[in-house]
Parts: sequence; C-alpha cells; structure tokens
Amino acid sequence: MDTILTGDRPTGKLHLGHYVGSLKRRVELQNSGKYQTYIMIADAQALTDNADDINKVRNNISEVALDYLACGLDPQKSTIFIQSQIPELCELTFYYMNLVTVARLQRNPTVKNEIQLRKFNQSIPTGFFTYPISQAADITAFKANIVPVGEDQLPMIEQAREIVRSFNNLYKEVLIEPKAVLPENSICSRLPGLDGAAKMSKSLGNCIFLSDSSADIKKKVQSMFTDPTHLRVEDPGHTENNPVFIYLDAFCKNEHFAAFLPAYQNLDELKAHYQRGGLGDGTVKKFLNEVLQNELKPIREKRELLSNDLPYIFDMLKQGSEQARETAAKTLDEVKTAMGINYFKGNSLITK
Ligand code: TRP
Repeated sequence: MDTILTGDRPTGKLHLGHYVGSLKRRVELQNSGKYQTYIMIADAQALTDNADDINKVRNNISEVALDYLACGLDPQKSTIFIQSQIPELCELTFYYMNLVTVARLQRNPTVKNEIQLRKFNQSIPTGFFTYPISQAADITAFKANIVPVGEDQLPMIEQAREIVRSFNNLYKEVLIEPKAVLPENSICSRLPGLDGAAKMSKSLGNCIFLSDSSADIKKKVQSMFTDPTHLRVEDPGHTENNPVFIYLDAFCKNEHFAAFLPAYQNLDELKAHYQRGGLGDGTVKKFLNEVLQNELKPIREKRELLSNDLPYIFDMLKQGSEQARETAAKTLDEVKTAMGINYFKGNSLITK
C-alpha cells in the first residue's frame, strides 16, 4: 500500500492558502482509502527558528489539530501525531547527518530563502540549518513514498531522496525514496495574499484563517486588493494578477452563480464583463464573499464544536503519536541493523 506523510509547522492557525494548497487534497487522498496516511504536526521543526517562543509553538498544536479535523482529516483514517513525541526521528536524523555535506545544505534553495527571510545572516541556528535532514527522517521513518506538499518544499523532498539513495547504497536497501505530489493546478500551489502579495502568510498579515468569523471574512474580502487600473466601474479591468479573481478561480463553481449571482452562468462570463468594463469591484467582492462563506461555514462550525472538547483532541494526538512511534521504531531498528550498530542484537559485537 502507498504511504503518505505530510505535515505543518504549528506556528499559527491554518489559513485559506493551506486549505487550497494542501488540506483539501489530503482529505481526498485520505478518503480514497488507498493510502496509509500520516499527518504530522511539526513542532520540533517549528522550534528550529522559535527556540525563544516555545509557547507559540505549544499553543498552536491544538489549533492546527482543530483545523485538521475541521477540514475533514479523520483520526479513524489517518494517523495524526506530534513530531517531538517520536524520539526515533532524532536518532534517524543524527545518522543521516553523516550522509549530507554542509555545502549541500547551503545550496538548498528553500533553506537559502528562509535564511534571508528570517534575516539570520551569520547567526543561523544549527538546528534550522539542518532541518532538511530531520525532514528526511520524518518521511523515511514511515516509509512514506508520497509526500503531498507545496512547491516550496520540493528541495526538501529532493534532499530526502538523496539521503535515501546514499543510505541504501552504503548499507542496505531499507529506505523508500519519496515522491512529492504537488497541488493539481498552479492557483492552488500558491494562493496570493489579500494584499496581492505572492503568498498568503501569517507574518504578512494577509490571510483568511479557517477559524475566522463570518464577519471577519466579509471585512477581509472587502479590503482586498484588486486591479489598480480599474478605477471607475466603466473602466476595463484586468482579471489576471487580481487576487479577487484568483480566489474565484480557486473556489467558485457554476452552482455558486445560480445561488448568489444569477446574472452570470459562470466565471468566464463574469471575467469577460470585468475586462470589458462596467462591472464594479464591489459586485465581484460581494460574490466572492458569498462563495467563501459557503465554503468556510461548515469548517468553522465543525471547528467550534471540536474546540469545546479539547480532551478529545488531546487523546487523539496522544494515540496518534503512540501509533506513529511504533512505526518509526520499527524503521529505526532496521536502519541500525543495516548499519551494523544494533550491537546488542545477536553477538556480532564480540565475535571476530
Ligand atoms: N516543512 C514543512 C512546512 O514547513 C513541514 C514538514 C515537516 C513536513 N516535516 C515534513 C512536510 C515532512 C512534509 C513532510 O510546512
């Protein structure tokens, strides 16, 4: 059976970008029943650049778990667990470190970019610098062959593949080479922010969160950046690079027109009118608001319900982590045996 592993750093609540970029797909994959699915809350990875803010990471563990379940991840079908509770992952990381050069990590485009974003300059925490290796441990511990991620994670998966190849060559064929699975279309790979910035990101403050109230969503949609050249209703407008239309591309279905904007049959008609001129941003935003409210309402309601039963979330994470640990321990055992360092298994240590 194919095995999926993926996860998120618990540094904040999950937003619409996470939802279209990965959560929706994960739920579909989970529900297909074709995969063994592991979903990891990557708290240890989050700590690599938040060592001074443990509470942020800790507080967001249950928030992310709530977001997961609200979107339809189901602990009966997927193993949902917390990274730091699987010490086997650290052991694997330590051995994999010997298979990766510092130069190779320095070339990793994701790490390079994140170092710049975080303005680490010369003060990069070692744990942060080496997190691609720990991510390889996350994936290989579960022998995951499929890793659904966003585009920015491709260098991480490539790094994991290299580690697998060198481990298997040097020692024994134990590890499985993972494959990244990207969202099906480019809109979903990277949803822009409300302000038109390339990415929806908590630190940029341009997100709609899955937990946002109906009033918040409305306010945020109203504040959205549109086409700066579309000043008056009569002006012809641009739909490309216009976040309002990009969100519609990601979310709207023909049924939404029948329900909320019956003057048009589909998005192409709406776009054509905007491009021609004579369609105001207000009308389009009002429609987008309806579409998003419709999509997010069931998620928010489920989230609210679950947040009244935090002991359930606690037990679910505890059980998931226990289950995950069993699998990771099996892999670690195979790894140590392949490396010949399972010294107390048999007596090879003292037989010459
Ligand atoms: N790096 C991922 C992120 O920032 C989180 C993550 C940690 C992950 N380990 C993983 C994703 C293993 C996929 C597989 O969101």
